[in-house]
Amino acid sequence: MAKVLSLGAGGFIGAHLTERLLEAGHDVTAVDIHSDKIADLLGHPRLAFIERSIADRTFDLGGMIEGADVVVDLVAHANPGIYVRQPLDVFRLNFQENLRIAETCVEKGKRLIQFSSCEVYGKTPVAVLHGELPDPENPSYATFSEDSTDMIMGPVGRHRWIYACAKQLLERVLHAYGLEGRLNYTIIRPFNFIGPKIDYLPGETDGVPRVFSYFMEALLDGTPMRLVDGGNQRRCYTFIRDAVECVSRIVENPGGACDRQIFNIGSPENEVSIRELAVLMRELYARHFAPAGAKLPEIVDVSAESFYGEGYEDSDRRIPDIEKARRLLGWNPGTSVVEMLMPTMDYYVRARRETALDATVAAGSRPALADTDA
Ligand code: NAD
Ligand code: UGA
Repeated sequence: MAKVLSLGAGGFIGAHLTERLLEAGHDVTAVDIHSDKIADLLGHPRLAFIERSIADRTFDLGGMIEGADVVVDLVAHANPGIYVRQPLDVFRLNFQENLRIAETCVEKGKRLIQFSSCEVYGKTPVAVLHGELPDPENPSYATFSEDSTDMIMGPVGRHRWIYACAKQLLERVLHAYGLEGRLNYTIIRPFNFIGPKIDYLPGETDGVPRVFSYFMEALLDGTPMRLVDGGNQRRCYTFIRDAVECVSRIVENPGGACDRQIFNIGSPENEVSIRELAVLMRELYARHFAPAGAKLPEIVDVSAESFYGEGYEDSDRRIPDIEKARRLLGWNPGTSVVEMLMPTMDYYVRARRETALDATVAAGSRPALADTDA
């Protein structure tokens, strides 16, 4: 069993991965600035949680890395709204701070599992050539392979791409250290994971969530589900339980199969357009979760600029080639989009009910004004 140092372990993927690694018998040291998503695990005898920022120079990052067998780095700003509004913060955290982790792994001779992103592939040739290709719907244009697909980013003024570029440059630095035989790394490129705890809902924090959470909040509140630029963009959704199973196999690294490898983790069978996702979520909500008489939201079109602000550009379509994970790890994601939406939506519906209940209890226990005056 390994001693795993998991940085960013309090996030969506980190919380599910921590649970999976503990189940597998590993010792986990989890570092994050938030702990609420792993609150249910905090008493576990093989989990140590440290509430610190990796950017805090008084934090003994070197000592932590020294004590681990393997380091998993999940820390990042991971939502497109942030790429547009705070591009420099994205560069600093997702590149500079992550580079410091990687270089400490080099110094200490430790294996690093680095979370990158499918965003590094960028746009498809179809998006760039604007219909000049003979068969634009052919999925081969959007099927991305780890070691052979070219990466296509938009212009600098579309600063959404700073996230993809930061992740891509970090990958290239790890590769270069690997070439010199100074770092044993595995890079993971997730393709749109979905599951309970994915994000806070937009109204709950100042944070900027991903599309699932915007749609979920719209369903719970009866406000419009907004489709950015028509909702024709396509994504392949991957259930978090399938995803962390693959990451867990990468941590195990059977026979060194993952040494200096890049893995796509995604579900190629689960491609939907964002419009289809909105319609499907609304149908599932109406059928399984909506209170009697609840108003179902309308689905409306909005421009990218009004939704995200200036500097946004979209990734049009992305399908993971997962032949490598199948071959080297025997991994196959089995969960369909409906099967992953059901427990994920259920989680948020319950959370909303509990919040409403807590508010009622709190209001009921507060002394009434008349009592106070008396
Ligand atoms: P997340 O935002 O839920 O998790 C990131 C975690 O990092 C958060 O808990 C956050 O508190 C923590 N963090 C941020 N700054 C920190 C700091 N200075 N010190 C310590 N912790 C800090 O995101 P996620 O979806 O769990 O993504 C994890 C990783 O996977 C990220 O690197 C992301 O870019 C990558 N990724 C995720 C997906 C996906 O489908 N969820 C897709 C592509 C890439
Ligand atoms: C995200 C983030 O970049 C990262 O978390 C990660 O690298 C990657 O996905 C991933 O999960 O693999 P993206 O898929 O564009 O990128 O992020 P979402 O916010 O989930 O948006 C998906 C699509 O829905 C985009 O086309 C966006 O414009 C659209 N959208 C978003 C809407 O139409 N309506 C909304 O309310 C929100």
